[in-house]
Amino acid sequence: MIIYKSEEEVRLMKRSSRIAAQILAELKAMIKPGIRTKELDDFAERRARELGGRPAFKGYRGYPASLCTSVNEEIIHGIPSSRVLQEGDIVSLDFGVFSEGFYGDAAVTVPVGEVSLQARKLIAAAEAAFYQGLGQARIGGRLSDISHAIQRYVESQGFSVIRSFVGHGIGYSLHEEPQVPNFGPPGQGPRLREGLTLAIEPMIAAGDWREQILEDGWTAVTKDRSLAAHYEHTVALTARGMEILSLADEIKAQPILQG
Ligand code: MF3
Ligand code: CO
Repeated sequence: MIIYKSEEEVRLMKRSSRIAAQILAELKAMIKPGIRTKELDDFAERRARELGGRPAFKGYRGYPASLCTSVNEEIIHGIPSSRVLQEGDIVSLDFGVFSEGFYGDAAVTVPVGEVSLQARKLIAAAEAAFYQGLGQARIGGRLSDISHAIQRYVESQGFSVIRSFVGHGIGYSLHEEPQVPNFGPPGQGPRLREGLTLAIEPMIAAGDWREQILEDGWTAVTKDRSLAAHYEHTVALTARGMEILSLADEIKAQPILQG
């Protein structure tokens, strides 16, 4: 069952989503050769609490950290560790926040120092794919219009979309219905209506889309070890159209920071 949100519920989701976005922006500024992924995790957890929330992933199905840090061929769910980021790496940062009864979820892939042209193109394609999907979402349309637009764009750039992990409804839970695949034909699935809140999250690979889970039971890597990138926002379909909730702007104006 899809839980459609009222304007008030969307307003509260914007608060948790903005905390996630703000922290991702701060993490992005910390990314440089020599930093350990565990340092990023510690920072994210501390900041979430400072900003009046808590990390949403910690303990979720036993996930052992607050942040996901997925490096190079790692697609998602990379567990922060003593691993030191090296010049030329790319790292996907995925962070969820729970506050005031609601979840927000966002992700971005960041270059570590100078990276290859291919890596830059892949990162840009993940972000652009998100906007392609968003651009297809309109009241009265269908959910898979988003999925189709993402796949079409990603493949037009010579990259592939991951199949085994998908976007999702979000709000009262981190994962609500419906699932939002990044592939498939248009014109299918539930009709898009006001109050729908989604985490739209293209996960893409430079090579083949098949993935494999590492021994730790979490880290998903491309089977062919090609580079992967991820881009995610929490969004809401309102009377004004699709709104991105996980934008860092304006958070400084919110009283939550004064607490
Ligand atoms: N953004 C991912 C998702 O929505 C992150 C989940 S990590 C987990 O599925 F640890 F919570 F599983
Ligand atoms: Co998500």
